[in-house]
Amino acid sequence: MDLFRTKSIEQSLRDTEDPRHRLRRSLGALDLTIFGVGVIIGTGLFVLTGRVARETAGPAVALAFIIAAVACGLAALCYAEFASTLPVAGSAYTFAYATLGEFPAWVIGWDLMLELSLAAAVVAVGWSGYAVSLLETIGIHLPPAIAGESGVVNVPAVLIVLLLTAVLVAGIRMSAQVNLVMVIIKLAVILLVLVAGVFFIDPANYSPFIPPAVHTEEVGGGSAPLIQVLFGVTPVAFGVFGIFSAAAIVFFAYIGFDVVATAAEETRNPARDLPIGIIGSLTVCTLLYVLVSLVLVGMQPYHELSEAAPLADAFRAVGMPWVASLISVGVIAGLTTVILILMLGQSRVFFAMSRDNLLPPALAQVHPRFRTPYRVTLVIGLVTAVLAGFIPLSALAELVNIGTLFAFVVVSAGVIILRRTRPDLHRAFRVPWVPVIPLLSVLSCLYLMLNLPVDTWLRFGVWMAIGVALYWVYGSRRSRVGRPDENGPAAKPAESAPEPPVKP
Ligand code: ALA
Repeated sequence: MDLFRTKSIEQSLRDTEDPRHRLRRSLGALDLTIFGVGVIIGTGLFVLTGRVARETAGPAVALAFIIAAVACGLAALCYAEFASTLPVAGSAYTFAYATLGEFPAWVIGWDLMLELSLAAAVVAVGWSGYAVSLLETIGIHLPPAIAGESGVVNVPAVLIVLLLTAVLVAGIRMSAQVNLVMVIIKLAVILLVLVAGVFFIDPANYSPFIPPAVHTEEVGGGSAPLIQVLFGVTPVAFGVFGIFSAAAIVFFAYIGFDVVATAAEETRNPARDLPIGIIGSLTVCTLLYVLVSLVLVGMQPYHELSEAAPLADAFRAVGMPWVASLISVGVIAGLTTVILILMLGQSRVFFAMSRDNLLPPALAQVHPRFRTPYRVTLVIGLVTAVLAGFIPLSALAELVNIGTLFAFVVVSAGVIILRRTRPDLHRAFRVPWVPVIPLLSVLSCLYLMLNLPVDTWLRFGVWMAIGVALYWVYGSRRSRVGRPDENGPAAKPAESAPEPPVKP
């Protein structure tokens, strides 16, 4: 068994033309940028901004957003080069298959479940919290047993996941339209926050901009960041180091720009549009994050910001409760698109994996009318609904960060490898200063990973061990690349029989 057999770029591109697996190419650069904004802006902005300002960075939370954006920007350049060279569904999974080999590719595909399905379930639970409180403001009270994280089942979370699954099955254009409407509401609310909030800024709240460092009590055991356990670093809040710790947390707010690459096969001109979509959405979000965080910490002293709903509560504090209500509507719309696009990304990754026979090939069937990978989408919708509805997820949320960072490391390293192994390929977008930029990307992602708790690392290890076992019992034996006779689409046994010849 050759664990490191690679799938050639040419083979990957040929697969996208197989009629049984052909998706509809209907997205342009603007659609992709809107997809990106849809998936990126979510709990990170609406919740973490306040918490991080209050506990770790003070008014300098804006600087933490910039540092995290630099780390993501380096990775985004690497994703852009790959996506423009290999515009095939599957993103990091497909890139790894072309460069590192089948086993690492499987590991990344398995790992991406943390970034996509698990994150979708986590965000669906957050969505449910906002939806329940909005329903309460109009007098509808759901019993906690069916609408809370501690209840028996979280019905609103299950319903939103199933509804969005239906949208995804109905077509990529339909998904793009739903996304567009929700993104417009989300952006309108953010602009409202900026415009209305500016009038309540008290410059005194910016001073000191970087509060003096304080040593926090060492958190012990599994909750300690790995870096602390390995190097004996004492945790600090505030000060310059506090800004770096804060950057590791607000990294979550940027997760999603890479999901744009999973829609590669549905893009009309991927070589041009994918880099624009990836880098464009990251740029728009960075700008908004910095501005919103500056307004927020200008409105209220950072130590008075609220934990759960900092933006809404800041407006309540300055006597504008109606803005607070509008923010709740914006958050619900905003989180809806995060769940939608994360599930879209997950379905395209699994679609690519089942097309390669690393997952059951029947899952790769495309719907004859909607031209979406409907089977795999339905399976993912059901799994995500069960996760969101029945499993307490708060302890697992940091697995999303580690899973994503790991994929960024692999993609960044992959850029250097592919430049060496296939210098001949046409790259519509090229990362400047290779290998310096990809190496910086790898190092900054590893640094952020080291800031995650030991418990998260242990859970990550267990998850990956399950993945390795599955590859051993299933994928390694059935892989198409491992069976050269079945390599070409024409030679692959058809699960939907080819059209019979027409008799004259
Ligand atoms: N970046 C996404 C969010 O902030 C995952 O919710």
